[in-house]
Formats: sequence, structure tokens, C-alpha cells
Amino acid sequence: MEITALLDLADGYVEQNRSVDKRKNLLRGRTVINLFFENSTRTRTSFELAGKRLGADVINMQASASSVQKGESLIDTAMTLNAMHLDVLVVRHPESGAVKLLSEKVNCAVINGGDGSHEHPTQALLDALTIRRRKGGLSGLTVAICGDVLHSRVARSNIHLLNTMGARVRLIGPRTLMPAEVGRMGVEVYHDMRAGLEDVDVVMMLRIQNERMRGTFLPSIREYFHFFGLDYEKLALAKPDAVIMHPGPMNRGVEIDSDVADDVERSLIREQVEMGVAVRMACLDLLTRGLPDTSPTGA
Ligand code: CP
Repeated sequence: MEITALLDLADGYVEQNRSVDKRKNLLRGRTVINLFFENSTRTRTSFELAGKRLGADVINMQASASSVQKGESLIDTAMTLNAMHLDVLVVRHPESGAVKLLSEKVNCAVINGGDGSHEHPTQALLDALTIRRRKGGLSGLTVAICGDVLHSRVARSNIHLLNTMGARVRLIGPRTLMPAEVGRMGVEVYHDMRAGLEDVDVVMMLRIQNERMRGTFLPSIREYFHFFGLDYEKLALAKPDAVIMHPGPMNRGVEIDSDVADDVERSLIREQVEMGVAVRMACLDLLTRGLPDTSPTGA
């Protein structure tokens, strides 16, 4: 299966990243551009590191410092970059569907670095690698995804991946933060966090995405934390060896208690960041394998 093969490849890159010599020349001669129309710390930096550790030339473009500010459209921006013979374009955009639209206009490989509330596929892959390394596999696990599911691309991509890999997914959150189509997502839905956390193997917390909210979704942050914030009292309902995850950035004291987030035994939040680099190396590796060889020694 493609997901398993990618995770196996990423496992090898974890070892490379932990060694002194982190660099290989697999992508020598290749050009990767990170085109970000939204802020990012983890995704942009890890794609940059991933490309550089594989020997590619990597360019970071922040839309706020580009000719987008002078009125250039998304498509014109992509086609301009495409004319420079790049090999991989990593795109983050606030509008759902924007990355797919752009991918139809260029002839390089395009990776979705997160589009609106729609998808964040490399996040789901790095989450899967993190879980697999701790739990030994994904099939048969029960994973609770908790919080602002409505606005979360991380939740959507994780639901697809976890269902595909044979895990059971529970969504936990207030009714106001559940998508209308939740009944068709192949998940169990809980509005009572204590009931939803019972006997789960993995607790994946989501950030409250204030920047995507149009209107009032929550009475108050204090009340939200009381009912849906992860603290030790609620965590006690999960399995004794349940692990804690969060894609970041975290809002401590809003969706997660600070001590829980920093629990060295149970929190995998730092491992998720580490796995992000390895998974993105595997994505760049696989996506460039089918491309024509443009390296100095290539045909
Ligand atoms: N998880 C994630 O996408 O983080 P960034 O927004 O920092 O890239």
C-alpha cells in the first residue's frame, strides 16, 4: 500500500536525520519552491530542511513579500514559477481547493502544504508515522480527534488516512465546531469529551482556529477549556498508555493544559515535529523519482 511504503521510507530518513551527516545528494540539481500564502513554522521549515537534506536547491516564497501584493493572481504566480523549471512546488493557501486548482496549471509536482479547512496531507502522514513508531501500527487503534473539527484540515486528512489504515476514529467537540457532513465521514461523534475519551489509544487535540471563524462559535475560552480542554482528569478516561498529540501551533490553556502538553511520557508533540522532516523527505524523494534527470551527470 502507498501509505505504508511512504512511512517505511520515512523511517529510514528518521535515522539519517539523527546522524551527524544529515545530507544526501539524491535531489542534486532539483529545485523545490515553498510558496506560502499563509503563516507557518513547522510545515515551511520542515519542507526546507527536507529539500536541503536531500541536496535540492530550496527557495522559500512568502506571498506577503511577493508580487501577489501588487495584484498578481495565484495562477499567474504559479505559472511564473513554473517557467523557471522547478521540480516541486509546495503550496499553502487559505482557500480550500486553491492548491488543486494551481496543480492543474503547472507541470511540476505540487504538494499540498495545507489548503483552508480542506486538507493537510503531509500532517496526516507525519501523525501516522509518529503513532506507528510508538504503537507499532495503526490498524485496530482508537484515535480521538478533539476540538475545532469544523475548521481543521488536519482533522480531515487524518480521518481519511486513519480510516484507510484500519484505525477507528472518534470526533469529539461542541456541536458548533462539527462539520455538517460528519455523518458521512466514517467516524463516531461525541459531544461529551469524557465519554469520547473512554479507552482510546490516541488523543489528538486540535487548535481553535479563530482566524477561520466567521461569527461566534464558543461562549467563552474558559468554558471551552472546562468542557473540551485536555487535562489530566479527562485524560484518565483514556487507556493508561494513551498518547497525546497536537499538530501545533498550540494554544496552551485553551485546548490543552500546559503540563499535559509537556508530559515527557505521554506527549508525542515533539516527535510529531521530528517526523515532519522525515515524512517530507520521503514525499520529495518519491515525487521526484519519476521526473526526468536534470542533474549534471544525468542524460
Ligand atoms: N502543523 C502545522 O501545519 O503547523 P504550521 O502552521 O506551523 O506549519
